[in-house]
Amino acid sequence: MVQPSITDETITTLANCLGRVRQNIALFNGRFPNSGNGTTYTLNDNVNWLAAFWPGLLWLSDAVSNDPIFRETAVSLLPTFYTRLDTQTHITHDLGFLYSLSARAQWQQTGDDAAAQLALVAAAQLWKRYRRPGHYIQAWGPVGDAEKGGLIIADTMMNLPLLFWASEQTGDDRYHEAAYHHAQNSRQFLIREDGSSFHTYFFNQETGEPLKGSTHQGFAEDSCWARGHAWLIYGFALAAQWCDDPQFLEAAKQTAVFFLNNLPADNIPLWDFRLSHDELAYRDSSAAAIAACGLLRIAAITGDETFRAQGNLLIDALIHECLETNPAGQGLLKHGALHIPKGWAPDDYLIFGDYFFLEALLTRKNKNPDFWGPTKKE
Ligand code: GLY
Repeated sequence: MVQPSITDETITTLANCLGRVRQNIALFNGRFPNSGNGTTYTLNDNVNWLAAFWPGLLWLSDAVSNDPIFRETAVSLLPTFYTRLDTQTHITHDLGFLYSLSARAQWQQTGDDAAAQLALVAAAQLWKRYRRPGHYIQAWGPVGDAEKGGLIIADTMMNLPLLFWASEQTGDDRYHEAAYHHAQNSRQFLIREDGSSFHTYFFNQETGEPLKGSTHQGFAEDSCWARGHAWLIYGFALAAQWCDDPQFLEAAKQTAVFFLNNLPADNIPLWDFRLSHDELAYRDSSAAAIAACGLLRIAAITGDETFRAQGNLLIDALIHECLETNPAGQGLLKHGALHIPKGWAPDDYLIFGDYFFLEALLTRKNKNPDFWGPTKKE
């Protein structure tokens, strides 16, 4: 039997994913998917860190489709992102995810200047979380919070592109500077010598003194949470594109090598690379999707075909191990792990896993509109 080529498989998968996104538009009906519950998504209002991955999926779909329904639906969701800033609903470091994939994406795909202005307002709010003397972005809680004022987390690396972009658009260097110093601190304190990573790190918020690494979603303080690690790979690859500093590319490569060296035989990571309990051995497809995007980005920066091949290997593993094939299923990828210590969605769809999977497929086909990197000049 003639085996389908990888290219055929990517094209078929892409077409199926677009069909599923299209089908979900009516089912989600203006609400925001979070994580799976069997073959459906639980839906929410625009109230948490996950809200922009659905518009992000619509904008990715818009980039490769002539069907106006994707863009019309994404545009119809943007008013909730204005409201969210007006009402200050759950404002954290995640403003980067939230406004890169909604407002910036809309500006990029349609030229809507009002959307760009909204993304700039969000960037200004994110900048307010930049803490000195430590020079980091505070992840959670009110700025200066007694418990969380000194906390950084790996995930924030993916929120920095909104700050870099704001400097690119306005010429105001303060955003770039904050993102640059945060990335330097993340490189120095989150990445361990062996290339593994802490999920979180605490500074003394009064003096800026580095205190200790820890975890929030990982198995243990000295373990390595797979998705946090994937955020670092992709986040440092993006920082390398935005900043003239070779240390960021080195950090992206070092974390990528650790990730690849610690994959199981099926190439889908367990949710933590240092688990000691078999009964918790859930896989996290979202970590593989994010890491695939990071590896393809490293390859694009360096021209290193090894990283491209490894990124494609992860995409193939996701297609073979995790792709939803049930026509009634709403998710693109099965087997995501949201928050194992809290028992949330341990083996389910995750909307960000779907987003980064589609982004990886588009990148493989040279069709990624890129809502994270420097703006492409026409
Ligand atoms: N940023 C939260 C998570 O990755 O679950």
